Amino acid sequence: MKKITIAIDGHSSCGKSTMAKDLAREIGYIYIDSGAMYRCCTLFCMQRGLVNPDGTIQTAELERLMPEIHVSFRFNAETGRPDAYLNGVCVEREIRTMEVSSHVSPVAAIPFVRAAMTAQQQAMGREGGIVMDGRDIGTAVFPHAELKIFVTASDEIRAQRRYDELVAKGEKPDFNAVLANLRERDHIDSTRAVAPLRQAEDALVLDNSHMTIPEQKQWLIDRYKERIED
Ligand code: DC
Repeated sequence: MKKITIAIDGHSSCGKSTMAKDLAREIGYIYIDSGAMYRCCTLFCMQRGLVNPDGTIQTAELERLMPEIHVSFRFNAETGRPDAYLNGVCVEREIRTMEVSSHVSPVAAIPFVRAAMTAQQQAMGREGGIVMDGRDIGTAVFPHAELKIFVTASDEIRAQRRYDELVAKGEKPDFNAVLANLRERDHIDSTRAVAPLRQAEDALVLDNSHMTIPEQKQWLIDRYKERIED
């Protein structure tokens, strides 16, 4: 059976990754979390002191160091999901902190960062058989993907999901700070000059505000089956 490319885009914390990972596992496709790649670049900036006190990034120095950033994924048999590695070191936990979340959108808006990550993502998807989630997958990375989904949910519901996730990891977040971070990221992601977050014209829209995870999973599997039967 022909292996297709599946692009899942949408707002921050709307459950894209959960849906994408579950679908990939179910149908035996590779899953790539493109947001994790921008998070790895952000962690690299923090580790190298490239984040200024006002939150801006030392772009000239980052551009010089860009060839030193290598992001990869390895399947974690315990969680059944891939972990992100920055230069060979597992950083899955570090890249999910609020600190990384608060710096990632400015880093992801830098054109040379996007060019480098987009090239890596396109190389990963060359053979098809991939589910990739992010903000610009159906518009910029794989504009010819056979199945494109655009996911969204209300701000408060997304913030509550992110808050619960952080609490489950032992962090003590402030709900209003989580909500503000999410709105700010959506704003930066949607208004940046290069590959902004937007719905591809041929994407199917899913508002999962009032759906359970099993319901979303089933909805996505049904869309996949429809597409491969076309
Ligand atoms: O999906 P996420 O929250 O882990 O993504 C982290 C950030 O990376 C998000 O603020 C936007 C950015 N991003 C992007 O610009 N393009 C992508 N394809 C994926 C994520």
